[in-house]
Amino acid sequence: MISLTVPLLIAALHLISAAAQTTGTTRYTVWASVIFSRTGERTPEVLGSDPTVLTSVGAQQQFANGQFFRERYFEPHNNFSTTNGIGPAPITGMNPEVPDVQKLYVQALDTQSTVASAQAFLQGLYPPVSFGGNQSEVQAMIDPTSRLANDSYVTPPLGGYRYAQIHTSGQYDPEAVYIAGSLNCPAFVFEVEDYINTPQFAELQASTLDVYQKIGPAFLSGVLPSDQWGFINAYPIYDYLSYQNAHNTTANTLFTSDEYTDPNTGTSYLDTLRYYANQQQYAWFGNVYADNELTGKGFEGGVKGSVSTIAGNMLAAKMIAQLQTAIRYKGAYYQLSLLFGDYEPLLSLFALADLPPLDSAFYGMPNFGSVGAFELYAMSNPASVEFPSEEDLWVRFYFRNGTDVDEPYQAYSMFNYGPDNFEMRWVDFQTNILEIAVGDLGQWCQQCGASYSGSDRIFCSYWNASDSIEGAAVLSSPSGHRGVSPAIGGVIGAIVALVIAGLIFGLLMLVGGMRFHRVQSHKSELGGFKGGQKMASDRDLTLPKGGAIVGATIETTPGSPIAGGH
Ligand SMILES: *[C@@H]1O[C@H](CO)[C@@H](O)[C@H](O)[C@H]1NC(C)=O
Ligand SMILES: *[C@@H]1O[C@H](CO)[C@@H](O)[C@H](O)[C@H]1NC(C)=O
Ligand SMILES: *[C@@H]1O[C@H](CO)[C@@H](O)[C@H](O)[C@H]1NC(C)=O
Ligand SMILES: *[C@@H]1O[C@H](CO)[C@@H](O)[C@H](O)[C@H]1NC(C)=O
Ligand SMILES: *[C@@H]1O[C@H](CO)[C@@H](O)[C@H](O)[C@H]1NC(C)=O
Ligand SMILES: *[C@@H]1O[C@H](CO)[C@@H](O)[C@H](O)[C@H]1NC(C)=O
Repeated sequence: MISLTVPLLIAALHLISAAAQTTGTTRYTVWASVIFSRTGERTPEVLGSDPTVLTSVGAQQQFANGQFFRERYFEPHNNFSTTNGIGPAPITGMNPEVPDVQKLYVQALDTQSTVASAQAFLQGLYPPVSFGGNQSEVQAMIDPTSRLANDSYVTPPLGGYRYAQIHTSGQYDPEAVYIAGSLNCPAFVFEVEDYINTPQFAELQASTLDVYQKIGPAFLSGVLPSDQWGFINAYPIYDYLSYQNAHNTTANTLFTSDEYTDPNTGTSYLDTLRYYANQQQYAWFGNVYADNELTGKGFEGGVKGSVSTIAGNMLAAKMIAQLQTAIRYKGAYYQLSLLFGDYEPLLSLFALADLPPLDSAFYGMPNFGSVGAFELYAMSNPASVEFPSEEDLWVRFYFRNGTDVDEPYQAYSMFNYGPDNFEMRWVDFQTNILEIAVGDLGQWCQQCGASYSGSDRIFCSYWNASDSIEGAAVLSSPSGHRGVSPAIGGVIGAIVALVIAGLIFGLLMLVGGMRFHRVQSHKSELGGFKGGQKMASDRDLTLPKGGAIVGATIETTPGSPIAGGH
């Protein structure tokens, strides 16, 4: 019985922990949180194996993430340090043992690695728990659905595993654009093409060639033709080789050898390749001032950002909408929101929120399993169960760059507020984030040029109407423009067809006439831009004929690593 009563007591303790702290002091008390997590480690996106799947390493990372946030949000609030924000900070009013279908919102892009990441995270967040024995009062309080009329208790499978709801968003689901806004966005592809035509790009392609030529013969032959070993493929090459380094003994040994170490700096070429990939990806996803050659204009209402950062603009809208809903319903909905995608939306969000100038680490791609979180909190008496008013609420942005135990969960100040001002009043935060948020799906369709008939974003044709897109607004602005319903989440289990790298890859094949020799090319007879990753059910992306590049310019963000060359 001990194995049953111990979790039982812990559960009961959790539920009463807030009430027990009637010290009268005010403390950092979390009322809602929205977290975006990069997938755990997965197989490489473009080169090598397909389809991309979460590895066991990735599953362990996300499981550890779940445990980390269980500790933060569900452990009693006994030793919280207000200076660094580290330690338990329980979310008031959430059941720590059984996922609450209204208070917990989970959304994953419909790819194996992101959906499995969500599952592993949830396993760590809500480990199996059983309330057996005959303590029917506790059972009824914590887990009433597991109790039968005759007072016996039915333990769920796997020793009490709990099943949370996971919304998956595939390519036909409008919700997908909020967690992967650059996916299937033709104008984004043109923006990347523009970048490839800049002098900065040509310079980088030339100055980095040496390293790619050095590593190519040992690591890339048979995977990528030698004329494609270069900065143009910086991301797919790094993504592939970092995976090889982690899982392939030969590659791992080579990367630690002198032969593949820069003789001047003593750094492994793998690190150099990461640096190049970071530069390339920041140029693609972090260019706040890029021109959109399809629309010739930026977002409506002067919202900051561009088609380059569109994934971050959409994510910002999603994240604030979750918090707005939590506030509107006083915590009855979405107290904890977990979103799973890849690194692109985070990278764009960093750029939009002015994080790179604050800390140059934000120019780099976040690690697998990294999380960005907005915590909505109040300095209140933890015993209080009354949801604070908007005037009393604050927000902090936290980032944790991966799941290693010693990786800090650190608060950063956004929007140029100064390094120490990482605490923002909710009302200020809302004003600032609305300046970078694009919540309107119609704008996404328009900016991306996805409204034409023939786009596989079929939902865009609905927004391709001259009339207002009022009903589509996800955001409520402080001026009282309200359109949020608690049922924001879409649930369509469509097959996600396109991985961003696949899209870019296809583009490069188009632009540079490249051909990748796939290690396993048994599926490549399907053809089309996804090559071997294409599913029979996928449709080819049809780029509009008018989408040719005509004298477009690109501006680099002040201080971006691209501006200064390398
Ligand atoms: C609380 O934190 C302080 C400082 O970090 C530490 O010395 C102390 O042991 C902690 N107490 C508990 C009960 O964890
Ligand atoms: C309930 O548990 C108590 C002590 O653990 C025991 O004395 C009692 O017989 C149990 N009742 C039933 C109905 O099993
Ligand atoms: C209660 O009902 C369930 C389902 O009918 C049965 O399996 C179980 O043995 C019953 N328990 C007791 C203590 O009667
Ligand atoms: C392991 O790495 C070596 C060196 O890059 C490469 O030749 C080999 O094909 C790799 N093995 C697999 C299974 O990818
Ligand atoms: C996260 O870690 C990667 C790898 O070390 C690094 O390139 C990147 O700059 C880091 N990002 C942040 C925000 O610390
Ligand atoms: C709407 O669709 C039509 C027909 O496909 C197309 O010509 C037009 O450009 C689209 N409008 C927008 C705003 O994308």
